[in-house]
Amino acid sequence: MPSSFVVEAATRTEKITYAVRDIVLLADQVAKTGKEMLYLNIGDPNKFDFRTPQHVIDAVVAAMQANKNSYSASSGIEEARQAIEREADRKGIRSIHDIFVTSGASEAIEVALTALANEGENILTPSPGYPLYTAVLAKLGVKENPYYLDEANGWQPDLDDIKSKINKHTRGIVVINPNNPTGSNCSRETLQGVLALAREHKLVVFADEIYDKLLFDGQEHISLASLDHETPVITFNGLSKAYLAPGFRIGWGIASGSGKALNGYLEAMNRILRARLCANHPIQWAIKPALEGSHAHLAEAMNKLTRRRDLTVKALNSIPGISCVKPGGTFYAFPRLEIAQSDNHFVHELLRATGVVVVPGTGFGQMPGSKHFRVVFLPPEEVLARAYERLGEFFTSYEGRTQAAAITERGEQAKSRRVKARGKNAASRA
Ligand SMILES: Cc1ncc(COP(=O)(O)O)c(C=O)c1O
Repeated sequence: MPSSFVVEAATRTEKITYAVRDIVLLADQVAKTGKEMLYLNIGDPNKFDFRTPQHVIDAVVAAMQANKNSYSASSGIEEARQAIEREADRKGIRSIHDIFVTSGASEAIEVALTALANEGENILTPSPGYPLYTAVLAKLGVKENPYYLDEANGWQPDLDDIKSKINKHTRGIVVINPNNPTGSNCSRETLQGVLALAREHKLVVFADEIYDKLLFDGQEHISLASLDHETPVITFNGLSKAYLAPGFRIGWGIASGSGKALNGYLEAMNRILRARLCANHPIQWAIKPALEGSHAHLAEAMNKLTRRRDLTVKALNSIPGISCVKPGGTFYAFPRLEIAQSDNHFVHELLRATGVVVVPGTGFGQMPGSKHFRVVFLPPEEVLARAYERLGEFFTSYEGRTQAAAITERGEQAKSRRVKARGKNAASRA
């Protein structure tokens, strides 16, 4: 083969980044040096002390043994779709026109976006938000149109900002509720505000509700689609988070709203779904027992997570220069950093110095000039406590190395040199 032969990658891949996994490359390098690593970067409960409920596992084993190992219908098995419909009904979602089972909510998201928007059009996405949306839109050549969540208002979507960003090419709006990475839970007023804008501007709403059952302090989750039975809404959910089975790779999409508005769009989604055959067939048999069987694992998980959330918020807020809005749900927090350097710089230096792995806020989007990082508080308390202790110690010395501090420091040094020099001159004149 000629040595000049170089396989060039498609340019459409250039903008695809995924901060959550990208940081792992550096973490792997640091781990090789023998440093003790503390991973607070991956939102995977099964990497820590959380286990998939036994009855959910049993259902998959039984399905495999019963030879449910063929392809399934492209939209998924009827038992699962009906269970999803009953769950949607419990959440107040009416006028359902389609339900499709996919390889994780991720595939449902990709299918729904792919079937909607053309190049040159745009989709409103939360900033900060989950980076999969950015990656899929980049691949499709569809413009991401980020709108801000308001940190001063518990990270609720900023309705004025959304309104100001809608233009004639806007086709849809993504609402991640509860949100990754901030852990915020949207209020009814916020959701109603989003729906009013969607109605006015004929937008499809994508309601990513994968964390709907992971809420703290008795908070209630409101399914966006339950508030409006006319506006086209695609609701995403799955087994990865509340059912502690991310490796099952099973999720779904629920299309609701006015049938007339949805018809052509649903047909487009189904064309894509048919072309990829189906989601993992035997694993789909876990959906009904998960949604309709015992939820005892959830109470246990939420007890642990509440303690870990509280520890996280307290420890982070006790570090001068770091402030953290208390998450209402999920297992993420998105603390703010008062630093002059970028959050990328902070996170990389922290990782190298202490082995603590978190994800830079830049990877999720944020207000220009603000700096954050995402913490996953799934690890046990003793790991979290150790990580925050190292982080606190590191931050104290890191602050001294930021540009602002360095400038102040240089300023102080220059001032003291001037004072000394004046002193000397005065002495020599005397
Ligand atoms: C907001 C959000 N949506 C979707 C997903 C992907 O879910 P799944 O594992 O079902 O593909 C995640 C995973 O972290 C997420 O945080």
